Amino acid sequence: MTVLGISGSMRKDGNTSLLVKTVLEQCEKAGIETEFISLAGKKINPCLGCEKCKENDWCIIQNDDWGAIMEKVLEAEVLVIGSPTYYYDVCGHVKNFIDRSYSLYHRRQLAGRKAAAVAVCSNKGGARTIQTLEGFLNSHEFSYLGWVRGKGYLEGDITKDTRALKKAREIGDKIVKLLKPQD
Ligand SMILES: Cc1cc2nc3c(=O)[nH]c(=O)nc-3n(C[C@H](O)[C@H](O)[C@H](O)COP(=O)(O)O)c2cc1C
Repeated sequence: MTVLGISGSMRKDGNTSLLVKTVLEQCEKAGIETEFISLAGKKINPCLGCEKCKENDWCIIQNDDWGAIMEKVLEAEVLVIGSPTYYYDVCGHVKNFIDRSYSLYHRRQLAGRKAAAVAVCSNKGGARTIQTLEGFLNSHEFSYLGWVRGKGYLEGDITKDTRALKKAREIGDKIVKLLKPQD
């Protein structure tokens, strides 16, 4: 699998999912393989701060879904990570997912992969959501392809944000250029 999209929203088919999928669809049109994962219904426990990952290079928490999803991130060439905005920042599930990636930070296991950030808010705070996602991506030394921020409140509202949909397709085009430069 080449491009992995993750939506951290507990709304499986909510605005963040739709915006992440818009990026993926653009890649699929160019024949690039994609996979989409929603964190809805997934169990992602918080980081314990135990620092045991410094010896293991992997998180010691085994009884949840974090490991399987992180394996997919490691396999992917490009990560498109999206979060809804909760209190001017990423939602809790996304924060837990990010915090647990500390276990891969020590040996920079994610370095060199490419990534884009996606955020949705209803009114304010989307910029900080993007900043938090950028903090995650920059810390891990991903090559950053850019961001898209959209607006919507109820599920599906994002389909009215034509500017955000356009930007999501542009990010998709950027990914296509990188993965299929001959096209
Ligand atoms: C707990 C909670 C906190 C929220 N905080 C904000 C906020 O700070 N700013 C904002 O503009 N919207 C906020 N919203 C609205 C969501 O960002 C908005 O509904 C978004 O479309 C949700 O995306 P989703 O459909 O992918 O879950 C909040 C919603 C919830 C449930």
